[in-house]
Amino acid sequence: MKYNPVTNKIIAKLVKIVDSKNVLTDKEKIEAYSHDEMPREQYAHMPEAVVTPETAEEIAEIVKLANKELIPVTPRGAGSGLSGGAIPVFGGIVISVEKMNKILEIDYENMVMVLEPGVVTNDVNELIAERNLFYAGYPMSLETCFIGGNVAENAGGGKAIKYGVTGRYILGLEIVTPAGEIIQLGGKLVKDVVGYNIKQLIVGSEGTLGIVTKVIVKLSPLPKYKVDLLVLFKDVKSAISMVPQILTKTGITPTSIEFMDKLSVQTSCRYLNEHLPYQKAGAMLLIEVDGNREDHVSDDAETIGELCLKNGAIEVYVADNYTTQERIWSVRRNIAEAFKVVSPHQSLEDIVVPIAYIPDLMPELALISKKYDIQIPCYGHAGDGNLHATLVKNPRSTMKEWYEIEAKSLKELYESARELGGTISGEHGIGSKRKDFMEIAVSKNELDLMRRIKKAFDPNDIMNPGKIFDME
Ligand code: LAC
Ligand code: ZN
Repeated sequence: MKYNPVTNKIIAKLVKIVDSKNVLTDKEKIEAYSHDEMPREQYAHMPEAVVTPETAEEIAEIVKLANKELIPVTPRGAGSGLSGGAIPVFGGIVISVEKMNKILEIDYENMVMVLEPGVVTNDVNELIAERNLFYAGYPMSLETCFIGGNVAENAGGGKAIKYGVTGRYILGLEIVTPAGEIIQLGGKLVKDVVGYNIKQLIVGSEGTLGIVTKVIVKLSPLPKYKVDLLVLFKDVKSAISMVPQILTKTGITPTSIEFMDKLSVQTSCRYLNEHLPYQKAGAMLLIEVDGNREDHVSDDAETIGELCLKNGAIEVYVADNYTTQERIWSVRRNIAEAFKVVSPHQSLEDIVVPIAYIPDLMPELALISKKYDIQIPCYGHAGDGNLHATLVKNPRSTMKEWYEIEAKSLKELYESARELGGTISGEHGIGSKRKDFMEIAVSKNELDLMRRIKKAFDPNDIMNPGKIFDME
């Protein structure tokens, strides 16, 4: 083991930096920091200590100490991740930003907000809605996730077709590097081409290159109107083959095209005690359009609805008020959580393919499902080619059998995505969960280049080690 343990002497130094109230070592208290939202307990790992600093300066001191003493540090946001990014796989110190949750500035003149990393993403929107503004990142865990974690993972979500993902809205960052320097990247600027774009390298680097301590996000005008369509199809195939058609044939850029198969809708509805008309349908699309003119928005919705009906949709339900829209979206947002409750032994995936090939992915899923005798319910951001196929353990298999099946079927799933020109993760990241599969996704040369970048930032490999790839 190349790392040193967190001794009492180290704890005493941490207490000096952040005060004893911000250092946790009690087993019961630090257990919560040993996992993220992945249900599989094999991924979990206990930290030796958890610190909850309140400033970037404190984080810098902690990181300097860890770097000098060769102790791994793992940055942590809300722990809502799905690939192990926040799990301290080598123990060491977890740096949780939960107490750095202040909105530092709302700058309406420049249409930006300056946030500490522990701000809950949804809170941003609640604060600025009355000024008819919004932050356009829309991760499905928006009610719990932190903006800092969104940056680290380059979180995607349900509005990416029109609005893109987190990185598009990050104008500036403050980070603490693995050497303990505090660096400002970018600013309240929409354009900035000075030198390398390190800011966007940090976005999506899964906490391996530094810890985000401040975020400058771009705000957008909140569209005045939106309409959601819940479109019912008899089966998965007819629903999914509509997706490329909507995107290429209507001249409309919808905000969202979310796909849900019957089992996904059913499971989430049961979990929420909600009722959508899922009995009738083998699969559904949830399509949203938004804009500032009511007539344009409803015309666009009508165009899309008609195209669906012409192509075999059973029914199109229109939701044009907040309450109904929120009810439907809540069913969509809660699918992952609902499945987790029903079947803890599962692998929630987020493969992504070019939009035209999303229909081709479905037969691949059916093949894997048949070959390994497992259910693979599926939902997700179909309009981005990004699907949450979820491999679920067959109750008849033993755990040992399931782990073998899981590894084999994951490999096949990832290879299918690659063959279609896609990749193994569109939004949840590699973390510790998928690092053994990196070679399916990137070339050896690219992986080597990533390692050299990591080495330049973090020569001692103390910053979130064991994530994305191993150093040797
Ligand atoms: C979702 C999460 C699982 O889309 O990414 O629900
Ligand atoms: Zn998702």
